Amino acid sequence: MTDKTQPIHSEWSSRFAFILAATGSAVGLGNIWKFPYITGENGGGAFVLVYLLCVAVLGIPIMIAEIMLGRRGRQSPINTMQTLAAEAGADSRWHYLGWLGMIAGFLILAYYSVIAGWAMAYIFKAFFGSFFSSDAADIKALFDNLMDSPIQQIFWHTVFMGLTLQVVVRGVKGGLEKAVRYFMPALFFLMLVLVGYAMSSGAYQQGLDFLFTPDFSKINANAVLTAMGHAFFTLSLGMGAIMIYGSYLPGHISIAKTTFFIAGADTIVALLAGIAIFPLVFANNLEVNSGPGLIFQTLPLAFGHMSGGWLFGVLFFVLLFIAALTSSISLIEPTVAWLVENKDMDRRKACLWSGTACWALGVGVVFSFNIWSTHTFFGKNLFELLDFLTANIMLPLGGLSIAIFAGWIMKTKHTEQELELPDEGFQTWLFLIKYIAPPAVFLVFLHVLGVFL
Ligand code: TRP
Repeated sequence: MTDKTQPIHSEWSSRFAFILAATGSAVGLGNIWKFPYITGENGGGAFVLVYLLCVAVLGIPIMIAEIMLGRRGRQSPINTMQTLAAEAGADSRWHYLGWLGMIAGFLILAYYSVIAGWAMAYIFKAFFGSFFSSDAADIKALFDNLMDSPIQQIFWHTVFMGLTLQVVVRGVKGGLEKAVRYFMPALFFLMLVLVGYAMSSGAYQQGLDFLFTPDFSKINANAVLTAMGHAFFTLSLGMGAIMIYGSYLPGHISIAKTTFFIAGADTIVALLAGIAIFPLVFANNLEVNSGPGLIFQTLPLAFGHMSGGWLFGVLFFVLLFIAALTSSISLIEPTVAWLVENKDMDRRKACLWSGTACWALGVGVVFSFNIWSTHTFFGKNLFELLDFLTANIMLPLGGLSIAIFAGWIMKTKHTEQELELPDEGFQTWLFLIKYIAPPAVFLVFLHVLGVFL
């Protein structure tokens, strides 16, 4: 207990506040928008199984490590890594890990904000009754219409980015704690309503089979990489977001228990989204691999049919928007904290600079869904490129570095002291973080590079 560090920024008011914020960061578009569509694109069950495995053996131990580094370092990720490297007598170049994360968060936010903008646009579409035509072709046309309109998308992207910065300027605590405390349970409830509807859709069993019956012939190295990348993405790992939240965590709180809760809640929301969506896909003869538009082309059908669908439709997209907002702030917080610590800016100025740059990149992402959709690089448009680079490359690399640092560079005495786990638990964590996580990430990378092919 004696040489635990004291924070230079503020602390969370309680363990519960930290859980709320970290869960708010984890649960977002990744669970409800991304998980279903990448599961659809990668053939279902086997992909889901690999993803769950990655959450268990990589995600949980690395989340424990990342929170721990944050709490010990007590600063923005870059400065935290510098401090901890010095403490361990290691190379100061470890702080580049902080840079990698900061850039990843920035790049993710550029497209995250665009997709969150779609969710906002759908709040109004739901409100004005656009889902009443419950014909699959009409609902698809509604989505295509949004895709073809750069103006609509840029408008909502701008509104969302503005709101994100507004929250970040005020500091991550106040409003955020409240938002997560009330809206997260509401979102959970609504997912259950949607699952209830899926049960009555006539293709419930088919949806479940798709999600939970693994057929390994359907996945390849790239699918494994996507599943692994998504485990990091959905848990907000590998770029310092959870590290910076951990830096505001009071010293006496159990990091491991907290992690189990966050990872559990996050996984349940993703699975519920899958269970709600795939039966609808099959019942309406839609394509499982329709890509990023999947939830926007399926869920409105449910809202169009079910009783109370108008209310639930509006509510769902409001909650999706709020879930996105509690995630987006954690994507930009490391950049803002760094600008404040190192460039002598106040929070407002730091938000303005980083937000404007991110917004501009987001406009490019909007164009990749229409006027630039044929401009590709290695067969990927700008959106796909940013997503691949961040989720599949940068986050796993960040996670790999965090595992190596926590397992091999930091003194075991220090990790033991921060985690305060019972001996067995600590040894399990240490084993996973030293001998399982680094080789696993490394092997997946090698495999994709074709070394084994
Ligand atoms: N986890 C969030 C989601 O699933 C996205 C997110 C927020 C994120 N912060 C992050 C992803 C940090 C990677 C790193 O929607």
